[in-house]
Amino acid sequence: MGKLRPGEGERLASSHTGRPFPPQNFLLLLGTLLSCGLGGSAQGPGEWTPWGSWTHCSSSCGQGVSVRSRRCIRFPGEEPCWGDTHEYRLCQLPDCPPSAVPFRDLQCALYNGRPVLGTQKTYQWVPFHGAPNQCDLNCLAEGHAFYHSFGRVLDGTPCSPGVEGLCVAGRCLSAGCDGLLGSGTREDRCGRCGGANDSCLFVQRVFRDAGAFAGYWNVTLIPEGARHLRVTHRSRNHLALMGGDGRYVLNGNWAVSPSGTYEAAGTSLIYTRAAGPEETLSATGPTSQDLLLQVFLQEPNPGVEFEFWLPGERYGPFQAQAQAQDLGWPLRQPQPREVEPQPPEPSEPPAAPAAIPPRILTPAPDPCAPCPDTRGRAHRVLHYCGSDFVFRARVLGRRRQAQETRYEVRVQLVYKNRSPLRTREYLWAPGRCPCPPLAPHHEYLLAARRLVSPDGKQDRLLLPHSGYARPWSPAEDSRVHLASRHCPV
Ligand SMILES: *[C@@H]1O[C@H](CO)[C@@H](O)[C@H](O)[C@H]1NC(C)=O
Ligand SMILES: *[C@@H]1O[C@H](CO)[C@@H](O)[C@H](O)[C@H]1NC(C)=O
Repeated sequence: MGKLRPGEGERLASSHTGRPFPPQNFLLLLGTLLSCGLGGSAQGPGEWTPWGSWTHCSSSCGQGVSVRSRRCIRFPGEEPCWGDTHEYRLCQLPDCPPSAVPFRDLQCALYNGRPVLGTQKTYQWVPFHGAPNQCDLNCLAEGHAFYHSFGRVLDGTPCSPGVEGLCVAGRCLSAGCDGLLGSGTREDRCGRCGGANDSCLFVQRVFRDAGAFAGYWNVTLIPEGARHLRVTHRSRNHLALMGGDGRYVLNGNWAVSPSGTYEAAGTSLIYTRAAGPEETLSATGPTSQDLLLQVFLQEPNPGVEFEFWLPGERYGPFQAQAQAQDLGWPLRQPQPREVEPQPPEPSEPPAAPAAIPPRILTPAPDPCAPCPDTRGRAHRVLHYCGSDFVFRARVLGRRRQAQETRYEVRVQLVYKNRSPLRTREYLWAPGRCPCPPLAPHHEYLLAARRLVSPDGKQDRLLLPHSGYARPWSPAEDSRVHLASRHCPV
């Protein structure tokens, strides 16, 4: 193949206007242009020649660099090409033998016994790593208290011992995942070099099952192929992890494992138990087999946060399996409805929101004590972010029982839900006199938690004590939208 090798600074005699064109067509086009003698002025940058071939590796063992270059061909009036004239690639040869003299030592040693520094004195030189620019050839005169910089080190010299990166043209560069030095290209969360996180799916959930007994509770299956796993919780409970063979990797069989790195499923799992009641588990992955994440409960579960990235083809089966097993965070199961007469509903639409009083008015004969004031933005954000459901609902009825109060509500608009809500739901609140109280026939904005009993038979919406329940109004609607922006994603 005939390579185009114009001399340095070469300009072509003729100009043209038909741009751009691929370099391989260059000669053909150039011939055409020259023979036609076209006039006119060219604009924009010049055109790169194709890359030359890669040079041999700069070293004969271990890491080194190889280089390739290209030239910019410019017509008169054209600007310089955009981009680099040189590209540097990491080359990895078999490790150097232990006896090999390091590259930098060799370069310093070139000055041994030679008169330098303008005098006839000679020295023995060894690398000096305390100087500011690690890509200068800084050498210490052995037996003397000074060093000298002999200019730049040769391309491919390690920047400093034990540090990633090689010197190229006086700069310390490390290789991107594409092998090019200084490219800055990284693997994305899906493991693709230079990808945009778009070839896999992000799973991020909170396992909130309260857990009524001490022991192991399933949190989630972590399918094979998961990457960038991270699990955290703040409590005195313990995370536990089981491999595909049913053996525990961590905190199994009622015994607590120490903080540390655990090798399992083809990856390193880093488990840390902080001094405070907090644990984290993380791994880069990809995992080579399914793992089962559990939590060993010894106190009520305040929530186990977990996240990982899954290849697209594993996401559907993962979701389906999680739902089938009802692992606390998936869809709510149907709530068994008690058979009892429905409270008669007042004739519906005339429920003009404008008629809603600004404060919650409890019906006249109410023996309940007043509730603490729970207004304010902080309270709203706290409950918005910490709840499983935020919705607008109309209270259809209320039933007070010994330990709790049950409201029947019609869900009108859902702002946030971790699992589907039905149009009619029961909402439970602790005590006979819950705070804040809800008045029948009024509309509210409510933040509720989901509560599932260990046997899975009870699956309830809970309005916690001093929870979030505000009479609905358009202003409340926009405040809730604002609150949603303050939640950690
Ligand atoms: C991929 O996701 C990670 C973590 O969320 C983020 O830090 C990174 O910037 C993302 N990369 C791209 C290319 O969007
Ligand atoms: C937890 O998950 C494992 C594996 O999917 C399953 O065999 C086991 O029955 C589950 N345990 C409970 C209590 O659901």
